Amino acid sequence: MKIVLSKKSKIGNVDFENLEFGKIFTDHIFVSKFSNGKWTDGEIMPYGDFLISPSARVFHYGQAIFEGMKCYKSDKDSLILFRPDENFKRFNKSSDRMAIPKINKDVFFNGLNQLLKLDCEWVKKGDGNALYIRPFVFASEPSINASEADEYIFMIICCPSKSYYGDKKISVKIEEKYSRAARGGVGYAKAAGNYAAQFYPTLLAKKEGYQQIIWTDSNNHKSIEEAGTMNLFFRIKNKLITSPVSDSILDGITRKSIIELARNFNIEVEERPITIDELLSSFKNGYLKEIFGSGTAVVVLPIHSFGYQNKDYNIPDLENPFSLKLKKLR
Ligand code: COI
Repeated sequence: MKIVLSKKSKIGNVDFENLEFGKIFTDHIFVSKFSNGKWTDGEIMPYGDFLISPSARVFHYGQAIFEGMKCYKSDKDSLILFRPDENFKRFNKSSDRMAIPKINKDVFFNGLNQLLKLDCEWVKKGDGNALYIRPFVFASEPSINASEADEYIFMIICCPSKSYYGDKKISVKIEEKYSRAARGGVGYAKAAGNYAAQFYPTLLAKKEGYQQIIWTDSNNHKSIEEAGTMNLFFRIKNKLITSPVSDSILDGITRKSIIELARNFNIEVEERPITIDELLSSFKNGYLKEIFGSGTAVVVLPIHSFGYQNKDYNIPDLENPFSLKLKKLR
């Protein structure tokens, strides 16, 4: 693999204690290109701007997908990737849905491993520290013909991260007007446009004082789906309930892990639809003990209140919440 090293590392200028999510990137990136029906082996180059045609299809039709993965450093200085095979599988599942050619496993992992070897100093030890890895692919072919492209670029960039929202709990709004995803749509894929489509309704929710939206089903806005940057778990009495994954809900890798870990802790977990009516009646009866989100960036994020039809519902703090037990594994 061709490797061009950066002339000078930026690491000395980084305040690892005060990292804003997704703003600072490591010294190198991995790039592979697709043309004439195949991916190149790829190369490593210094992180930096690059040239791309204004007619590249991604700018016009949004043919792009991405992943979010994490790498940790153990006390013995080894790098540990969190379930990378799952991200790789989902990457190609998302690509398939967006008519993007699948990436070869060797290209993906040779690139990732080489990149981590070069930028390993950027992965810090200790609670809450991780390297967030963002593999992505986009249609680079210069053409505004509205069909799938013949040329693509795959890249991996990495940023050191702490938790997405710091140690804060968040409040969310249950959305009844806008939809994130519909049956038969692309909601299960990590398609770039899924995220862009959330920005406007989320902006409106932020003006009302919420940090995120709980998306409901697009048919009648009665069942809870996910929160866009995370899957959701509801603790009703001592049971955890999470919506089943579907074509409109992302198959979260952290979600899957939480379900497995909870069951190992003998916590009962149900994967089934949960309606707003059930949520409200559980709240009124005092049975709704916790809500939390799960995702690569947020890890496990407690939610302290939710808003529905102009009313806020506050969930009192618990002494030993499941969210903390599952995050800390103790
Ligand atoms: C992740 O957790 O990796 C996500 O995809 C959410 C991201 C948009 C911050």
